[in-house]
Amino acid sequence: EKGGYEHFMLKEIFEQPRSILDSMRGRLELEAAHLNMGGVRAYERKFVNADRIIIVACGTSWHAGLVAEYLLEDLARIPVEVEYASEFRYRNPVITERDIVIAISQSGETADTLAAIELAKSRGATIFGICNVVGSSIARATDAGAYTHAGPEIGVASTKAFTAQVTVLTLLAMIVGHKRGTLTDSKLRELMVELSNIPAKVEKALLLNDQIERISETFKDVPNFLYLGRGYNFPVALEGALKLKEISYIHAEGYPAAEMKHGPIALIDENMPVVVIATKDSSYEKVVSNIQEVKARKGRIIAVVTEGDTTIPDMAEFTIEVPATSEVLMPLVSVVPLQLLSYHIAVMRGCNVDQPRNLAKSVTVE
Ligand code: F6R
Repeated sequence: EKGGYEHFMLKEIFEQPRSILDSMRGRLELEAAHLNMGGVRAYERKFVNADRIIIVACGTSWHAGLVAEYLLEDLARIPVEVEYASEFRYRNPVITERDIVIAISQSGETADTLAAIELAKSRGATIFGICNVVGSSIARATDAGAYTHAGPEIGVASTKAFTAQVTVLTLLAMIVGHKRGTLTDSKLRELMVELSNIPAKVEKALLLNDQIERISETFKDVPNFLYLGRGYNFPVALEGALKLKEISYIHAEGYPAAEMKHGPIALIDENMPVVVIATKDSSYEKVVSNIQEVKARKGRIIAVVTEGDTTIPDMAEFTIEVPATSEVLMPLVSVVPLQLLSYHIAVMRGCNVDQPRNLAKSVTVE
């Protein structure tokens, strides 16, 4: 059942080219230059006229929600708030009928996310669900939705479900942006082509596995890790840190790179590994400065860069090169080496990667 892999987690990481493709199958039609999501069609007017989108989720699904905040604001120009379901449901949030709430959940059973939906529903919002498990409680509680087609995710650490969520949210932002007129025909076309190239790019990123295994050897015994990213790669930094802590039990924190100087920089010394996601995008120069700041304090830099980068390899202890893609799609590629890094470090530490201590695959208690 593990298809020759040692763990479900590794199998699921390697399934991503396929699960991303499956999540856009029938939805992205390149030839016809057409995007199509059944669940969105009936609520198209609602989306186009929405005052605001509120995203509720927990854990890794919340990180997918953060990526969606960037996507929906960038492409569709709708204000977005991303909320931890557990906080949202208990704080008497302001919700109106002109709000759309998007609930994201792999399992579709997370108690806090379900309760957040019920609350938003009682205040008249339209609820759109993005779930992986067909017929799950959250899928049933929503007004409309789109399934991720990641297939069953067995490893407790979410990997292929995350990239499937981001894929579906990207399609959603493209559809809504195009309908609202904030995403031009030509820009839409360009993104469609680029999105259809993502499975092959993820395939290429998976070839980094051996290199990342070697890097993991160097860091397997450290007590702490920092992850930094900006823009679309900020949620990826959070996700990389969560993956590491949950399966290897190494303390890790993710930060927007620019926040470092407001506190976390005090942690940096010659023992601190800092993973910086520094792909070629609109914040590249700024991230390079952040790397210099880490280096000046002797932090150990592991940089995820775009293929062919000639600047960062001179500054970093380790450089991991991922294929170039559009800035808005980069999380689908840049998260892959971080998943692999956490996997190998956890295996080397003798941890049970598929069933980490204290964690359950669906959190049905609040
Ligand atoms: C992290 C992880 C958890 C889940 C969270 C939400 O790898 O698996 O953080 O993402 O418990 O679960 P779902 O998406 O099922 O609502």
